[in-house]
Amino acid sequence: MTPRFRQQRSVTVVAIAVAAGLAGLLSGCGIVEGVRGRQVSTVGEVEFSQQLAIPPLAESTVDGQGRRVFDLTVQAGQSEFTPGHSTDTWGMNGDYLGPTLRARRGENVQINVHNALDEITTMHWHGMHLPAEADGGPHQQIDPGGTWSPGWVIDQPAATLWYHPHPHGETETHVYRGLAGMFILDDDIEAGLDLPRDYGVDDIPVIVQDKTFDDDGQLVEGNRQHAGMLGDTLLVNGTVGPYHEVGHERVRLRLLNGSTARTYSFGFSDDRDFALIGTDGGLLTEPHRTDRVRLSPGERAEIVLTMQPDEDVVFRSYPPELGADGTTNRQAGGEDSFDVLELRAGAILESSPPVPERLVDIPRLDPGDASETRQFELRSRTINGEQMDMNRVDEVVTVGSTEIWEVENGHGQIHNFHIHDVQFQVLDIDGEPPPPELAGWKDTAFLSPRTTIRLIMRFTDYADPSTPYMYHCHLLRHEDRGLMGQFVVVEPGQEPAPPNHGQAG
Ligand code: C2O
Ligand code: CU
Repeated sequence: MTPRFRQQRSVTVVAIAVAAGLAGLLSGCGIVEGVRGRQVSTVGEVEFSQQLAIPPLAESTVDGQGRRVFDLTVQAGQSEFTPGHSTDTWGMNGDYLGPTLRARRGENVQINVHNALDEITTMHWHGMHLPAEADGGPHQQIDPGGTWSPGWVIDQPAATLWYHPHPHGETETHVYRGLAGMFILDDDIEAGLDLPRDYGVDDIPVIVQDKTFDDDGQLVEGNRQHAGMLGDTLLVNGTVGPYHEVGHERVRLRLLNGSTARTYSFGFSDDRDFALIGTDGGLLTEPHRTDRVRLSPGERAEIVLTMQPDEDVVFRSYPPELGADGTTNRQAGGEDSFDVLELRAGAILESSPPVPERLVDIPRLDPGDASETRQFELRSRTINGEQMDMNRVDEVVTVGSTEIWEVENGHGQIHNFHIHDVQFQVLDIDGEPPPPELAGWKDTAFLSPRTTIRLIMRFTDYADPSTPYMYHCHLLRHEDRGLMGQFVVVEPGQEPAPPNHGQAG
């Protein structure tokens, strides 16, 4: 299926890379502008010379008690992002990123996370409904050489979740160096729908991250704007300049913004429509036809696009609508655009059924059932005037309750808001009903400057008065600097206890 000229094109790129060095190759992508917070554009500049890596599906075994057991080793390694240049990176069961974990609703899973780094880390299952002690937030530390083995029963709809470390004050660096992976959940409802679901074939994980490389091809961890580290080179699943060959008429992309700070507005080079079928916590009630989907750090979307035989189309990120003013907007990446991934259709495509007109039922949570309304005001380094404190529990939630959380971005910078343990529904944004892309289950929501978003959620189970869950901004530098708080879920009338920092060592 690979046309000849493409192989020649990739040979040319290798020759250029060797002649000019990695730095020379990358400077064409606006490295200098990136450092100064000016506009970055790689549109039309990317040689799609490397085949998109597909993270392997993690192997698992079923133990004597019927549990599906996975093993992850967090380790340091070296990655060859550009042929001939080696970069120090971190990964899980490999040099960069981690395998895709996959489990089905109702399954009992156990994940043995072994820390082979020489510093403390943790492993958080982003978007997962689970007991607080299995959540992998900053309290569930894994010492160097230690293994942490959380277990829980998958009890939520089919969705594209992910996992990444959450060590106190160090999340940005751990994720940036490469610690992230996808966690796909399946269920019978999703399995009954005519959707592309052949992993790596017509159902493609797309983990998008931006990086800055120095002259020696090492990751640069400086260049911080207010938003955090904004890079000028994109990696998709750890591949620079990726292409993917498509053999089916319809392709499902599972998009994960695995970047530490950057918000994207994804679409295609010819502005074609696609069907948005799912968001953070699962499928939508019906596909939403659109030509753009904005994702801030940590958010996911599932889309299905249609391709014609023999065509190439570039998956692109357009300047995202951040709602910020001139300089702030530019420094937060609001003027930046990227060529992300080239999709190349074969001469003959296997036909795929049309996307179903109805997907899943999403019972609407009723504000009339809410027993509590809480307010959160986000500023540069604080939520409600306080920075994160591991020993302070900020909110106490009673198990079984429905709550409304009003989250206000109180200043001129951008943020987003992520809540552990639950998937929420957006009630309104500055009083307006949510657009279709925010009408399904979400665990992370973007906040333009001076915007208020009202969220509703139910805390169905897992009371534990001494182990907190987190809520925070998922711009990871903000999280690390203090834009995070803790809540515990308790039985009615129960008092919270001092947070318990279990160490697995
Ligand atoms: Cu994806 Cu608390 O994080
Ligand atoms: Cu923030």
